Amino acid sequence: MSDDWKRLAAEAALQEVRSGMKIGIGTGSTAEHFVRALSRAVADGLEVTGVPTSERTATLARELAIPLSTLDEIPVLDLTIDGADEIDPQLRLIKGGGGAHLREKIVAAASGTLVVIADHTKLVPVLGKFPLPIEVVPFGLGATRKAIEAVLSRHNLPVTLAMRGGSDHPFVTDGGHYILDAALGAIPDPDKLATDLVAIPGVVEHGFFIGLAGKAYVAGPDGVRTVTAA
Ligand code: A5P
Repeated sequence: MSDDWKRLAAEAALQEVRSGMKIGIGTGSTAEHFVRALSRAVADGLEVTGVPTSERTATLARELAIPLSTLDEIPVLDLTIDGADEIDPQLRLIKGGGGAHLREKIVAAASGTLVVIADHTKLVPVLGKFPLPIEVVPFGLGATRKAIEAVLSRHNLPVTLAMRGGSDHPFVTDGGHYILDAALGAIPDPDKLATDLVAIPGVVEHGFFIGLAGKAYVAGPDGVRTVTAA
């Protein structure tokens, strides 16, 4: 069911795309539905250029004959369409469940707006049930971890960091970094936590997307609806 909702949301968001647009293309299972819908539209004559947010998305989009480019060639995009792991009422997001949040954020920030596609289970009153992905540089990992733990303690949040993939075979992002997943529970002040985390030198990017999403297409048992910030 959840996958059908993801597909419905992705297909509905296609109405945001007009011929001639340059668009960022997200990563994850919902974004994959969008890639498939976009490729059908391209086959029917829609003219777009896509900038993928991961190698995984690039591979699928290439297979499905969607014209692709990069932010080096097109530094400003019309919009990005991407999934999310959690969406709060202000359209603040947690992303990075698929480990692509660094590129996703770079592409979203280069876009006029970020349109989120999701099934309704992603809507939450308060961010934090989904562990917050924190992308870190492998060099100096121990010191970076300690600095993150200190920030979490200052925020009175649980200090539980898990190396994605495990310490023996860590998951490596497209950028060659590791991810520490922080199981925090309800996060009272995501904006301040975001600022404090990114100030740590070894932290490349966290999974908070704040002030980036303009609209969400959310699908559930009652169909698809659009959500804007409360
Ligand atoms: C990828 O790193 C993530 O940010 C995804 O956009 C997010 O995890 C949503 O994934 P699903 O669409 O697979 O739920």
